[in-house]
Amino acid sequence: RATGGLTLRLILALPGHEAFAAKLAEAAGAEVGRLETRQFPDGEHYVRILDDPAGRQVDVVCSLARIDSLILTLLFVAAAAREQGAKRVTLVAPYLGYMRQDKAFKAGEAVTSRAFARLISGAFDRLITVDPHLHRFKTLSELYTIPCVTLHAADLLGAWIRSEAPNALVIGPDSESEQWASEVAAAADAPVVVLRKERLGDRDVRITFPDLSGYGGRQPVLIDDIASSGRTLTAAARELGIRGFPPPICAIVHAIFGGDALSEVAGASARVVSTDAVPHATNAIPLAPLIATVLREEGAALDVELARRRAV
Ligand code: R5P
Repeated sequence: RATGGLTLRLILALPGHEAFAAKLAEAAGAEVGRLETRQFPDGEHYVRILDDPAGRQVDVVCSLARIDSLILTLLFVAAAAREQGAKRVTLVAPYLGYMRQDKAFKAGEAVTSRAFARLISGAFDRLITVDPHLHRFKTLSELYTIPCVTLHAADLLGAWIRSEAPNALVIGPDSESEQWASEVAAAADAPVVVLRKERLGDRDVRITFPDLSGYGGRQPVLIDDIASSGRTLTAAARELGIRGFPPPICAIVHAIFGGDALSEVAGASARVVSTDAVPHATNAIPLAPLIATVLREEGAALDVELARRRAV
């Protein structure tokens, strides 16, 4: 078992997140640790950390899309790191799941945002995430009891749009997205309009458009924080066609895309791109450099401690 290492920061990747962890480690100047995970014949989960976490900052990388199959492994990794003496265990979750059931819409429903936050808060010392879906809860601290670092991908989306769609009209899908859509548009140096959306069911939305007559000739770029059923983007893309616009580019932060959602959205769009918050075929905008800024800022303090330990 490897111990110590040259850095006090150890990055551990849950299965499926190795590529993201490697990019993060490279951008942050950290070491990727080795993790062994498997299931026993009875289906129970086995976890072993192969590099010693004692006295180190441990950052566990796991996007929380479709987390149900991985949640126990994630909790076991955090518990093992703590038990083996990690100084602080951080969950790096570029996509934070369970944020959408943030109230009981019908009597008897579980408010899963709250219950899930309790679970994570008990297992980790800190959370770093990107554009969590905050709707009825305005900040993560209303849900999570651990320190949370909330990063935003607006500038990255805007920079991508500026370079790939110079004549863009940035379109936010609903009134909640207004502030965020304006930030993306400012970074893209493009005008912005915001639509109105009414959700009629899990897979049914009604979109209302403002007057777009002043934007003829522009390339519509639909942006959204999450694409799940894809109905929001598909409905908006079709309405744009009816109004004489070319097929839009869809740029999203979190590419959840359940079932046939991607083919529906792609069929109505010129191009679909996403950040790599959720590993997906549409990933085009890397988030590791953004998250690495947080880790690098802490790097100086770690260096001081490393020097002190070497001197002992
Ligand atoms: C909702 O408020 C979000 O910003 C997204 O618009 C929504 O989650 C997209 O969901 P779907 O792809 O299922 O329409």
